[in-house]
Amino acid sequence: MKYQAPKGVSEYFPPRSRAFEWVRDTLITQIKRSGYQLLELPIFEDTELFTRGVGASTDVVSKEMYTFADRGGRSITLRPEGTVGALRCVIEHGLDRGSLPAKVWYSGPFFRAERPQAGRYRQFYSVGVEAVGSDDPALDAEVIAIAHAGFRALGLKEFRLEITSLGDSQTRAAHRFDLMEYIDGLQLDGATTARAQLNPLRLFDDKREEIRALMAKAPLILDYLSDSSREHFAAVQGYLRNLGIEFTINPRMVRGLDYYTGTTFEFIHDSLGAQSGIGGGGRYDGLLEQIGGQPLSGIGFGLGVDRALLAVEAEGVLDESAFCPDLFLIPLGAPAKARALMVSHKLREHNFTVEIAFGDRQLKAAMKAADKSGARYVVIIGDSELSSGRVELKEMRTGATTSVTLASLVEALSTALSNQ
Ligand code: HAM
Repeated sequence: MKYQAPKGVSEYFPPRSRAFEWVRDTLITQIKRSGYQLLELPIFEDTELFTRGVGASTDVVSKEMYTFADRGGRSITLRPEGTVGALRCVIEHGLDRGSLPAKVWYSGPFFRAERPQAGRYRQFYSVGVEAVGSDDPALDAEVIAIAHAGFRALGLKEFRLEITSLGDSQTRAAHRFDLMEYIDGLQLDGATTARAQLNPLRLFDDKREEIRALMAKAPLILDYLSDSSREHFAAVQGYLRNLGIEFTINPRMVRGLDYYTGTTFEFIHDSLGAQSGIGGGGRYDGLLEQIGGQPLSGIGFGLGVDRALLAVEAEGVLDESAFCPDLFLIPLGAPAKARALMVSHKLREHNFTVEIAFGDRQLKAAMKAADKSGARYVVIIGDSELSSGRVELKEMRTGATTSVTLASLVEALSTALSNQ
């Protein structure tokens, strides 16, 4: 029996796992710079949390959840997204009763039973933030700016930001009234009408050409914004302009989750084909209350690490040197091996990344391993090096060598790397 990973999951193994890790950690670094703190969350929650929080009209809830009964007969669901679980934790532990906004981040796998294709997986990896308890438009701009900075830190250039506003409850009620009237006049099939009844905005997201054509003249929510929603949205745009963050307004944007209100946004990378969304998010007034918390507003995003990695590869901006070892040590003989262990130990204490050639390999095989590791420098330690106390520090890229003492390797490597 030859086992394989389940269909449609994303898994990472060397050498590509290094790039995956780098993408994830780079995005997280940007998040932490704005003072967001970690939530380490369960991967499964009570099913009801998602049906209530994410919304019954969504594909995510109606078709894509991995739901099962646990051994106690409780209905459990593998988290299809991060926001409602994060908010459940915020409420349960009273973080919404401390200083506001409560700013949290999380990362990990999420599960949606979608039809697998390039960039769309049944288990995917996402990094997210939530800021709860403030409706300040400057917070919207900061949240968007964090995601933007994350993608820029990956070296990405070919992505776009689309934003819109879904307004407040007054806005949505007025728009819904007119939109339902418009949809009633379209004579749609039963299933589509039922979907529209749950959330008429879903029809803007319908993939069928005929529905798209029918919706081309449908009333747009941006034309219904209340005065306060319009001011809020204008303020967000003003802050983004000040930050030099380019965006376009997409009044037909529909996010796949029902809880959004006010500012919503998506980052799109056009080289990824159909699965072009590399991140998205928005405000969710009312969600906290809906799942048992206070009537507080919040905003957040989820960034797709798998897709961000695909985008980095598509643009060819992956800097492999960011995660290659500084030094590869090749010991020849037993005494050299003992010394190499000691030398590597000391170098690692000084924060260098060091690998050793294990298994008493021949020099040629060991050099091949050094090459494969992507190490910047190589040092060979044999009997003569041990007796003289001197080694050749070889730069792999150029082949240039410098003679240094073993005792001064820390300083020599540090100088060499800073000159590179
Ligand atoms: P989402 O847009 O559904 O938002 O997912 C966030 C990101 O996860 C997407 O932009 C995409 O890059 C990635 N993603 C989603 N589904 C898949 C999949 N099947 N395969 C690969 N990547 C995928 C949310 O989940 C919200 N919780 C974001 C949020 C936080 N809104 C407010 N706060």
